[in-house]
Amino acid sequence: MPGTMTAQPSTRILVVFGTRPEAIKLFPVIHALKADPRFECVVCISAQHRQMLDQVLEIAGIVPDHDLDVMQPDQTLDALTANLLTGLGKVMDAAQPDRVIVQGDTATAMAGALAAYYRKLPVDHVEAGLRSGNIYHPWPEEVNRKIIGSMASLHFAPTETSRNALVNENVDPARVHVTGNTVIDALHWVTAEIERQPSLAGGLAELEARFAGKRIIGVTSHRRENFGEGMEQIAAAIRRIAARSDTAVIFPVHLNPNVRKVMNERLSGLGNVALIEPLDYPHFARLLSLAEIMLTDSGGVQEEAPALGKPVLVMRETTERPEGVAAGTARLVGTSAERIVTEISTLLDDREAYEAMARAHNPFGDGQTSRRIVELLANEVRHQA
Ligand code: UD1
Ligand code: UDP
Repeated sequence: MPGTMTAQPSTRILVVFGTRPEAIKLFPVIHALKADPRFECVVCISAQHRQMLDQVLEIAGIVPDHDLDVMQPDQTLDALTANLLTGLGKVMDAAQPDRVIVQGDTATAMAGALAAYYRKLPVDHVEAGLRSGNIYHPWPEEVNRKIIGSMASLHFAPTETSRNALVNENVDPARVHVTGNTVIDALHWVTAEIERQPSLAGGLAELEARFAGKRIIGVTSHRRENFGEGMEQIAAAIRRIAARSDTAVIFPVHLNPNVRKVMNERLSGLGNVALIEPLDYPHFARLLSLAEIMLTDSGGVQEEAPALGKPVLVMRETTERPEGVAAGTARLVGTSAERIVTEISTLLDDREAYEAMARAHNPFGDGQTSRRIVELLANEVRHQA
């Protein structure tokens, strides 16, 4: 009938993820897709993580359409990857998406991209182009993300540095978009939620009272390449730092048994150390605000801490996030106990050294990354129609 508008069918996007950091960095994209009538957003979790993933889903109000529940205690990379590939392939066959979104560099992201490629489905990569240049640091993430980068349709690079890394690998520059990192969207969202409802982050009150007047160091650690000697060195460093009477360490311990065993054996019972369960995102945001320094081998924490003006000491040899180091808000300190203790002591005892690092610096985005990604997706779909 002349003059009648026919509604365009919406584009079905399957968002695939499995671990805590993917959930944190994808919930803003899922919120934006679900609010947009141009898209039908289907959520598939592999549950490569269980409790730590469910914590994020609950806070963000996301109910998955598919849950593969693959997590096994202390899972090996090959068994995990095999389960992911077959499981995610079946979900894709059932859900019949038009496109697939993956984030970052986990086993789930890599297997999700591969399963989509096997079906000739376009894969869009959030947090594309991070590179350390060393395939064993971080392991196996550096290779996971290179594999995804070789198949992706749209590459959403957080910064110019990550964009350049892709272009240097001969990715078509027209397919790479600098969007910022969705972690900043997530941080803004959770901060607003806490302002609305302070009790969301009230669960640390007892620890805050116990450590009143002390200078708090927040710690996280979980990298596979740090298992064994690296974890022993990190624990030894924390023991020495916590021997200072003016300092307290709050350490939400990752559920990986390779982390927990060492930390429990070496650090439990110390007066100035709180080994606690993984925090949900509002409580972790609260820890970031309480801490004077963050000591971490995490990727996401390297992005969040500088955004909040907290110096971050990175217990790794290399980083795929050089922007924080270049700005002076992050420093690579490796995993030798001696070096970690020296670097922390400098920040605690030298006010100028501390102030030089404690500058709010946010090269990773302005909190509008998800909105940008959704517009780029809409543009892509329009051009294909
Ligand atoms: C994974 C990712 C890593 C990411 C990290 C974020 C891979 C290969 N690794 O590492 O890139 O930086 O997540 O945290 O994709 N566990 C639980 N409950 C949980 C989560 C983990 O019990 O909610 C334990 C299980 O024993 C599990 C083990 O931790 O087998 C390891 O989990 P896995 O996802 O294989 O590796 P991560 O070290 O968490
Ligand atoms: N995080 C959290 N609770 C914790 C520790 C970390 O919510 O107890 C969040 C943190 O804010 C960051 C993300 O988890 O956004 C980082 O996850 P992780 O360190 O496990 O993985 P990575 O970023 O190294 O891949």
